[in-house]
Amino acid sequence: MYNIGSYEERLKNFDWNIAKKDLGILDRSTWNIGELCSDRICRMGHGSRVAMYWEGHGGKTATYTFDELRIHSNGFAHLLRNTLDIQPGERVYVFMDKMPELYFAFLGILKAGCIVSPLFSAFQEDSLLTRLSDGEASAVITTPKFVKRIRKLLPRMPYIKHIVVTNDLTGYSPQEKEIVHQVDRVHVAHFESFQADPETPSILHYTSGTTGKPKGAQHVHDSVLSQYLTTKWILDLRPDDVYWCTADPGWVTGTSYGIIGPWCTGVTQVVFEAGFRPRAWYEILEKYGVTVWYTAPTAIRMLMREGDEIVREFDLSKLRHLCSVGEPLNAEAVIWSEKVFKKAYHDTWWQTETGSIMIANYPGIKIKPGSMGKPIPGITAAVLDPATYTEVPEGETGLLALKPGWPSMFRSYRRNPLVYEDKFRNGWYITGDRSRIDREGYFWFVGRDDDVINTAGHLVSPFEIESALLEHEAVAESAAIGIPDPINMEVVKAFVALKPAFDPSDDLSLKIMNFIRKKLSPLAMPQEIEFVDSLPKTRSGKIMRRVLRAQETGEPIGDLSTLEND
Ligand code: PRX
Repeated sequence: MYNIGSYEERLKNFDWNIAKKDLGILDRSTWNIGELCSDRICRMGHGSRVAMYWEGHGGKTATYTFDELRIHSNGFAHLLRNTLDIQPGERVYVFMDKMPELYFAFLGILKAGCIVSPLFSAFQEDSLLTRLSDGEASAVITTPKFVKRIRKLLPRMPYIKHIVVTNDLTGYSPQEKEIVHQVDRVHVAHFESFQADPETPSILHYTSGTTGKPKGAQHVHDSVLSQYLTTKWILDLRPDDVYWCTADPGWVTGTSYGIIGPWCTGVTQVVFEAGFRPRAWYEILEKYGVTVWYTAPTAIRMLMREGDEIVREFDLSKLRHLCSVGEPLNAEAVIWSEKVFKKAYHDTWWQTETGSIMIANYPGIKIKPGSMGKPIPGITAAVLDPATYTEVPEGETGLLALKPGWPSMFRSYRRNPLVYEDKFRNGWYITGDRSRIDREGYFWFVGRDDDVINTAGHLVSPFEIESALLEHEAVAESAAIGIPDPINMEVVKAFVALKPAFDPSDDLSLKIMNFIRKKLSPLAMPQEIEFVDSLPKTRSGKIMRRVLRAQETGEPIGDLSTLEND
């Protein structure tokens, strides 16, 4: 394993130019992530290496080499720039399941110099409209399965110029603004990628906050420097690895480490379209001989629940490095994995905004089960006092903060400069998490510093859920909180005060659930609605979610006087 050395050595020797040198761009002022992930790997003589083993629902499989990745991504780039005349800088959204075309389109959009925004395929109308409108999408690339959802919204999205429909087109017939693209019918042998400079916008990922609509975190092509080094150092990927990242590219893990990381290092990866099923997951690990596996604590807890026996049915001897991200990884999960896989999960901490891993139990340091690990080379992290934004003494809880300046850091929240600026205090980027540092410099996650709900590793905004509830005719007031859950860490619980003409009943609860189901992604769906007469509020009328949470968990409510300013 690559040993990234002691803290002192790292500080002394660290330079982001290490990545530039490895990527062959040390003396260049322009590069393009799409090109680095496909053409460059082919130029290095690895065109026939497998880039992607794809396995779909029902056992359908396909294998693509780096050369095919290059040609198919060229196809999308050519379509956008030359056929549809979409200009660099325009936003192109991808809305589909984890199909091979998603991956080709993602790189193709970047090659064309456009901004790519991946949408989680479970998004329903409201979630889609919010994101597409905020980004004023010029085009959406989708499949026949999902095009109907876009069609419905089209009258409210005049900025959309084209809808590209791809994948299996059996039974599909194009409607207004729709154009088809079948990857195996197009062969663009060469496409001159847009010469992006490091600050050219690349990916737009939406993330949830406590208030307001989801915020579009804007990334730039410079990010590849961080993604390359962390893939090599933290995920420990090497050319002969078979890597599996279980995340969907609708979320940042699925792009930073489900596309860019493995492919800019020229590594073969597995893409499994279907969701979580323990047996199917073990089968994938065995069948493809996965060596490096990046997954999430909820999935790990679900595997633990399934027991140890099932693990022994499979030959998982190729596995050599396991990593986890998205939620706190409990110590029991690390201990369990050492028992059943003979390898410990390495927890990694980062965010949509950071674009790459910031804190980790990385190769070369001792794993502390339950801890997020230490800041990686080039990253300075600290725990700050919430009043003064200065560092707190060792062991004390405070705000987890990072010294800005690493390449993959987001550059803005789209059209939201105030919220962006609010993230920076006293020279630090304030992450929104609370943490503490132990004597050995390990970071321990304490909780979120806001009301955002983390369910199964996905951030959900209470505001989005409350807004959906308020649209129902019976709902006068609503609040959504996360309540503890042994598997998903948190699940959503909603509180509803009804308008005078309505009475609480199971039937009404069901009707409200069905109503919001059409608006929210399944992740954001409350597990339960509790009817209340009224909700606890501050003097200025803000709902005190913290009080509801304390009531649910039986924990102390804390200092209510501060809530007025929350
Ligand atoms: O609260 C932290 C939690 O997930 C948040 C970031 O979510 P998102 O932007 O969706 O990106 C998720 C994947 C990178 C963080 O602010 N989180 C992430 N990793 C961990 C974590 N909480 C505890 N331990 C982690 N390792």
